[in-house]
Amino acid sequence: MQTALERVAQQKLADLERRHLVRAPLVTAPAGGAWVEREGRRLLSFSSNDYLGLTRHPAVRAAAIGAIERYGTGAGASPLVTGYHPLAERLELELARFLGCEGACLFGAGYLANLGTIGAIVAGEDAIFIDRLAHASIWNGARLSGAHVEAFEHNDLEDLALRLRERRGGVRYALVLTEGVFSMDGDIAPLPELAELAARYDAWVLVDDAHGLGTRGGGAGSTHAFAAPLALDVHVGTLSKALGSYGGFACGSRALVALLRNRARSFIYSTAPPPSAVAAALAALQIVADQPELAGVPHARARSFARATGLPEPASHIVPLVIGAADAALAVSAQLEARGILVTAIRPPSVPEGTARLRCSFTASHTEDDVALLAVAIRELGLVAR
Ligand SMILES: Cc1ncc(COP(=O)(O)O)c(C=O)c1O
Repeated sequence: MQTALERVAQQKLADLERRHLVRAPLVTAPAGGAWVEREGRRLLSFSSNDYLGLTRHPAVRAAAIGAIERYGTGAGASPLVTGYHPLAERLELELARFLGCEGACLFGAGYLANLGTIGAIVAGEDAIFIDRLAHASIWNGARLSGAHVEAFEHNDLEDLALRLRERRGGVRYALVLTEGVFSMDGDIAPLPELAELAARYDAWVLVDDAHGLGTRGGGAGSTHAFAAPLALDVHVGTLSKALGSYGGFACGSRALVALLRNRARSFIYSTAPPPSAVAAALAALQIVADQPELAGVPHARARSFARATGLPEPASHIVPLVIGAADAALAVSAQLEARGILVTAIRPPSVPEGTARLRCSFTASHTEDDVALLAVAIRELGLVAR
C-alpha cells in the first residue's frame, strides 16, 4: 500500500518531470586533471569548482592525511563546546590575514556561513537589499533573518539606489547582499561603486566571494581585484571551491566575528568542520598565497575559449551558454557527453525560468588542448556562430 507521503512525493516528482526539472546525482569519480569517470566512461569535465585543481595537490592531500593521523576524522563537537581545534584557529587567522580582515569565523560550509551570518546581523526591524541573482544560500539567509527583503535588479546600481532611497529611512539597519563573481553567470559585481552607494545610505555590504577566492585579485578574490583593496563589512567565502576542501567562513571586524560566534545559529548548533578539511584548506591557502599567478589561469582558459568560439570576452572563469528551455539544455549537455565532454545543464530553480544553460567552468587543470576540444564541440553543435 502506498502511503500518503509516497503519493505526494510521486505527484511532486511527476510535476517536475513534466517540466524537465527532475534531478538526480550521478556517480562521478575524479580521474586525474580535468577528467572524470562516469558510468564507465572517461569524460573531460567543465563542471567542477575545483578551480585550481588543489583537491588532488600532493601538499593538500598530505595535510589532510596528517590531520587525520594527529586529530582523528571528526571535530567531535560544535566549536563552542570542544570542536574548535588548533587547525581551525590557525585557518581563521590565515584567512583573515590573507583577505585583509580583522578576523574570521569558520562554518561547516559556505551555505551555512550565509544562513548564519545574515540573521546574526539583521532582524525584523531591518531591511535587506539582495541582488536578484544571488545564490540560494544568500537568499535563504536573508529570508531566515526575518528582515524585510527586497531584490534589486542584477548588478543594477540605479535600481539599488532607488530602493535604498525609498526604504532606508523607515528601517533600523540596512544590509546589501551580493556576490563577487556570480556563480551561474560568471559576471562580477561592481563592488567599489556598490560599497560607495551603500555607505551613502548608511547600509552595510556583505559579499559572498565563493567563486572569486583563488581566481581573482591574485588569489585574494574580488575585494582585491579593483584599483585598491576593498574593506567591505562582511566577506563570506567557501573552502570548497578553489581551496579544494570543504567548509565555509565569514570575515570582518573583530566585533563582527565575536557576534557571529554568539548569534550565528549555523555556527553554534552544528559540528565544527573536520580537522582534515581544515588542514587541507590551510595547505591550499598557502599555495594560493605563495603563487598569485595561479589565480589567473582559470580566467586565461576562459578567454581562450571565448576567442575560439567568438564569444565576448568573459569577465571571469565561468562562461554561461544560455540555451533557454530546460529540455533543450539537457539535450545539448547530452550531445556534448556523447562526445566525451561533461558540461552539466543548469536548470531552474538554480537559474531563472527560461534561462537554462550550460555553465562552463574553466580551471587550472584544463590544458589549452582541453579548451580547444570544448570549443570545437560547441561550434559543431551550433551553439555559437561558426
Ligand atoms: C555564491 C555561493 N555561495 C555559497 C555557496 C555554498 O558554498 P558551499 O558549497 O561551501 O556550501 C555556493 C556554492 O556552492 C555559491 O555558489
